[in-house]
Amino acid sequence: MSLQIKKVEHIASGKVREIYALDDKHLAIITTDRISAYDVVLHEQIPDKGRVLNQLSLFWTEMFSSITSTHLMTATNQKITTLLAELGKPSWLQDRTMIVRRAEMFPIECIVRSYLAGSAWREYAANGQIAGLKLPKGLQLAEKLPHPIFTPSTKSKDGHDQNITFEEARRLVGDAIDELARISLELYIQAASYAEARGVIIADTKFEFGIVDGQIVLADEVLTPDSSRFWYEKDWLLGTNPPSLDKQFVRDWLDASGWNHTPPPPKLPNEIIQATRMRYIEAYKVLTGKPWFKDDIKES
Ligand SMILES: Nc1ncnc2c1ncn2[C@@H]1O[C@H](COP(=O)(O)OP(=O)(O)OP(=O)(O)O)[C@@H](O)[C@H]1O
Ligand SMILES: [Mg+2]
Repeated sequence: MSLQIKKVEHIASGKVREIYALDDKHLAIITTDRISAYDVVLHEQIPDKGRVLNQLSLFWTEMFSSITSTHLMTATNQKITTLLAELGKPSWLQDRTMIVRRAEMFPIECIVRSYLAGSAWREYAANGQIAGLKLPKGLQLAEKLPHPIFTPSTKSKDGHDQNITFEEARRLVGDAIDELARISLELYIQAASYAEARGVIIADTKFEFGIVDGQIVLADEVLTPDSSRFWYEKDWLLGTNPPSLDKQFVRDWLDASGWNHTPPPPKLPNEIIQATRMRYIEAYKVLTGKPWFKDDIKES
């Protein structure tokens, strides 16, 4: 890798990630332990969540390298140790850090759905379609669709993304939309069949792509519990909302608390934090087939 880190500049804080520019072509992305629910970042962090998200993204990004170019440059290189030292950050952030090629991001989220849930279920229940796609009549909550569908959405700054039609997406990104849809569906199909063999259903997931040197690259997080709805096959039941392998405990607890989804959020009890941590770790272990890291909990 020819990258020489000269001056590291913090350029953005997402809800979950801290982004640093290493030069005009490269970024470092550190995935923190922050958690958001209903588009609001909670006060508490989930220990090890950033690690799970970063490691899962790496796992899939590497798996997908034969299907698409990706933004990933390195996650294990000595460069990351140097970078963290430069930032005055502790070296244990290594597991949560990747160096990527800086992409010009497409302003849409590339969502693939294979089961009816979340906003897709609400839209279908209201008008029998999703993002302008007509679906068969009489489908139930959590029902498997006849085939996976590509349902793009806007990527809004306030976090309230809107599902849009394929033609609306074409107006936003041009003819690249055909390729984005093709790649997204191919990635989904490969990941879903991999996960199925491990007893996990990928009900839906969101990809983000950008352009580097004129080429489409897969960027951002990939098939994490934050960007996807993972269900255990054993928990799936038609007409229900199967528990997902993510912040289900947090959402259930917040719902029961009567919170109206506007800041400030209520304070999470410790048992919910711990249960959520275990859920993320479980997702990592089940999906990668790897054991959990041996060292202690690290908080960012
Ligand atoms: N290779 C890349 N080049 C440029 N930007 C990237 C790249 N990979 C990811 N990003 C962007 O970095 C940000 C990641 O931060 P995070 O996931 O915390 O954001 P977010 O809360 O989802 O916010 P946003 O509203 O910006 O999507 C996203 O805006 C994502 O689009
Ligand atoms: Mg994001």
